[in-house]
Amino acid sequence: MDARVPRLLRRVWSRLKRPARAVVSYPVPPTYPGQDAIPDRDFYRPSEHGDWLFSPWLARNEPRGHGEFHDYLMTALEAGTAVGPERLYTLCTLASQCLHLDGDVLEAGVWKGGTAALFAKLLRERSPRPRELHLFDTFAGMPPTHECDAYYKGGEFADTSVEAVREKFEGAEFVRFHAGRIPDTFIGCEDLRFCFAHIDLDVYQSIADACAFVYPRLAVGGVMVFDDYAWSTCPGARRAVDEFFATRAMRPLVLSNGQAVVFKALAEG
Ligand SMILES: C[S@@+](CC[C@H](N)C(=O)[O-])C[C@H]1O[C@@H](n2cnc3c(N)ncnc32)[C@H](O)[C@@H]1O
Repeated sequence: MDARVPRLLRRVWSRLKRPARAVVSYPVPPTYPGQDAIPDRDFYRPSEHGDWLFSPWLARNEPRGHGEFHDYLMTALEAGTAVGPERLYTLCTLASQCLHLDGDVLEAGVWKGGTAALFAKLLRERSPRPRELHLFDTFAGMPPTHECDAYYKGGEFADTSVEAVREKFEGAEFVRFHAGRIPDTFIGCEDLRFCFAHIDLDVYQSIADACAFVYPRLAVGGVMVFDDYAWSTCPGARRAVDEFFATRAMRPLVLSNGQAVVFKALAEG
């Protein structure tokens, strides 16, 4: 092109000369050679890069989990949960892996009991030894929050009660309710030890207090899952976790679904 043509015009011209990039959309899973051999293609979903990936937490267009996870998913959904299928899948998989360790299971942040119902089912069906499930919540809504918890003001999640949640666990003698505000409800529980902990408290001070109580009592090989670590609505959650683990050998692994996981590989408090 003539050098006297203005630079902007030359840029537009060279753009036009480039071959147009194909716009790819996947209304149904594409078939690659050998893909017919996959018996459960309904559980493959497009990733953000366009590849189809096995996603056992949810079938396409249906609230259905893959294999034995299906019943755990339905249990949590029926009890009522704010946790989505993908995060439920993480919980189910990691908690079941910890059942060969000594120690109880703890959940801090129960609300209507959906994730707790999943853990109760796991303990009932898969625990090789008797153990307890400890449930900590006000069961009356979020307490007053820290200034870094911009989204939460206190009082959220008040549409529940300890009586209503207790009814969902009738006959499950191994479930212990600790109703009231964390950290007050940790008093008297100092002798407990845990193999798995789900921390779903959303806000700064509650999570900081839960880390300080749970982590030193977590078995080596045990796992802590933080539900709301990466959510933009929960900056206090991330701050509390980062501050606590900044001085420890273990580091939180952030998952693409917003959870963070700590695998306790070393004995440290
Ligand atoms: C997101 S909800 C839990 C969701 C639940 N895991 C589910 O399956 O849907 C967060 C809960 O944390 C509780 N919470 C937050 N801070 C607390 C504290 N300091 N003491 C007790 N409960 C607290 C709230 O009462 C609320 O029920």
